[in-house]
Amino acid sequence: MQIIKTKAELQQTVAACKQQGKTIGLVPTMGALHEGHASLIRRSVNDNAVTFVSVFVNPTQFNNKEDLAKYPRDLMRDAELLSNIGVDFLFAPTPEEMYTPEEMNTTFEFDFGGLDQVMEGKMRPGHFNGVVQVVSKLFLLVQPDRGYFGEKDYQQLAIIRRMKEVMHFDLQIIGCPIVREKSGLALSSRNERLSQGEKETAVNISRVLFASLDYAKAHSVSETQQWVIDQINAVEGLEVEYYEIVDQTTLQPVADFSHAIGCVTVYCGPVRLIDNIKY
Ligand code: PAF
Repeated sequence: MQIIKTKAELQQTVAACKQQGKTIGLVPTMGALHEGHASLIRRSVNDNAVTFVSVFVNPTQFNNKEDLAKYPRDLMRDAELLSNIGVDFLFAPTPEEMYTPEEMNTTFEFDFGGLDQVMEGKMRPGHFNGVVQVVSKLFLLVQPDRGYFGEKDYQQLAIIRRMKEVMHFDLQIIGCPIVREKSGLALSSRNERLSQGEKETAVNISRVLFASLDYAKAHSVSETQQWVIDQINAVEGLEVEYYEIVDQTTLQPVADFSHAIGCVTVYCGPVRLIDNIKY
């Protein structure tokens, strides 16, 4: 596996792949890779002649400096995992390589069509501007045939699908299902920050989400929404930031469960965890 640090080397490598007529898969990540990432990457390796994985903790999508500072980083461990999966190219730039000082300090403007007005967008102002900024840059640099994103960050996936349409990117966006521990806990790089006790507490998030599938059979959307919030908040050590049941495409509130998804954000101690479930 070749490790690429600069945009110039990345572009040369992409040009060589294109010249040889190779299909390109891109998996953007922020590192601290786990089995959830591995599932996207295996899919890309399987679907494409070459796979590029980016590992870049993108400063412009963090609206909380402490969260950025504490985000887990271990490039050598990530590189080993990627090379074992059969990845061809790892792109791991510095923030200074990725952005000009101006780009770093101005908000990237994008028309989200309302997709950013709810849930994560409401709680983390500017977050999706940063995500679109970095992912659009990666799409321009790598020109992939396919881009792979996890369904755990469901709103992000919806926004990237919109970005593809609005910015006329010619690629396929592949959404991949959430990977869970045996306990049900959705895999996340942030889980690394949980103690063993907090991990056991956090399992209740997915337990309640799955139980809500049954509860929803005899209750309305708003009753189910409130029930999930109450059940999770009843667990010592968990605090719900929001639970919204929305349309899977528009992310707007729904009146019934057809084509609905429930998206939750919960604080487990200081760690902010997200999860979702389709009804
Ligand atoms: O989901 C992530 O890890 C990040 O938001 C992404 C897509 C790599 C952009 O920085």
